[in-house]
Amino acid sequence: MDWGLRNRLSRIIKPTDGRTVMLAVDHGYFLGPIRRLEQPGETVAPLVPYADALMLTRGVLRNCIDAATAVPVVLRVSGGSSIVGGDLANETITTSMREAVRLNVSAVALSVFVGSDYEHQTLANLARLVDEGEACGVPVLAVTAVGKELEKRDARYLGLCCRIAAELGAHFVKTYYCEDFEHVTESCPVPVVIAGGPKLDTDLDALQLAHAALQQGAVGVDMGRNVWQSDHPVPMIRALRAVVHEGAAPEEAHELLVELKHATETQPV
Ligand code: 5RP
Repeated sequence: MDWGLRNRLSRIIKPTDGRTVMLAVDHGYFLGPIRRLEQPGETVAPLVPYADALMLTRGVLRNCIDAATAVPVVLRVSGGSSIVGGDLANETITTSMREAVRLNVSAVALSVFVGSDYEHQTLANLARLVDEGEACGVPVLAVTAVGKELEKRDARYLGLCCRIAAELGAHFVKTYYCEDFEHVTESCPVPVVIAGGPKLDTDLDALQLAHAALQQGAVGVDMGRNVWQSDHPVPMIRALRAVVHEGAAPEEAHELLVELKHATETQPV
């Protein structure tokens, strides 16, 4: 791997412990203004100090994020479909590598839809993006999206997706946690991060999810809804950091969350 590419990747996956807490706020690219992400700038601002990287689109980056920020950016560069349109898997590359470099991002991200009608198209997008990323020293994050076919989220399917993405040259992969998750990480030769998926019933559930994924070989999380749809987003991301970077047990991290929540509530105005 080239020096520039390794340097960019090390801004995201911290060399001190090989782990990362990425904050995903790219959902609007196909979901529009979903709950608690109606104004991305407002949602993200208090969370930025606790995120190792932000995953978003160029539109939100340009319009909602302070250009003086030091937080590394993982730029979503695929899209072209919406929740109300045709097949969500019908994605193209929406932002050029030149634009990504101009925006000084640390990585680019795109979705691949293995097993869908658009498998070939999205895998070809990935291969092209890797060629362009390698030429510019920009790492590529492949997101193993599953669209609406939720029943496919098992270790056999996700292991297949992650491995194919890595074989095509993705520098790191984002997938979903599932039973027998170590099968997914063991057979993927590049780092794996997990998405949180839809908001879980409790913050503790999300902390347990992150902890289980790390125990089974993930290098971190790229979570969105389980952080900013929490009723306590800042305590939540700080608790997540305790799990990812400090090896805290989920219950221990949850105690921290409760303490931070109380401290905020009792702060004098
Ligand atoms: C959509 C994405 C999202 O960033 C991803 O789903 C992470 O967010 P969440 O934790 O809310 O699932 O890549 O394809």
